[in-house]
Amino acid sequence: MQDHPSGLTTVTIEDLRARATAAAENSHSPYSHFRVGAALLLTVGDAPYPKIVTGCNVENASYRLTTCAEQSAIATAVGLYGPKIKLHAVAVANLNSAASMPCGACRQTILEFSTPGTWVFYPAEGASPAEATLADLLPAAFRLPHE
Ligand code: THU
Repeated sequence: MQDHPSGLTTVTIEDLRARATAAAENSHSPYSHFRVGAALLLTVGDAPYPKIVTGCNVENASYRLTTCAEQSAIATAVGLYGPKIKLHAVAVANLNSAASMPCGACRQTILEFSTPGTWVFYPAEGASPAEATLADLLPAAFRLPHE
């Protein structure tokens, strides 16, 4: 059953959100106490079978070395499956009952492995579920001239 403009079922979307929430349990965030998780729905090259990879934010005493959950998940996915990953959906969650859209840097990182129809699912105000395409979240993205 395909019941979302992304082509994903609500079951798949809820599963991604749940996995993002579970990943947030592993967050290393002793400075912000903001525990974030991300779950990626991806395919590799032309293979049709989807895979799910998760990550969490990893902070550092030297604050600027912090890795966001989305970036952590994407680095893990490339490490596992190589650079031909294609992100179809990214779910973000936090354990703080707060809104958390992907930051600007994460949007650019998602773009690197995006498809024309990459969707992002995230908690909005009051932690209520919200969603947008990456194209809507990052309308004027940086791209190198030859790409
Ligand atoms: N954070 C993420 O993991 N993803 C985002 O898109 C925004 C922010 C993390 C970084 C830091 O550990 C904490 O949230 C507070 O900024």
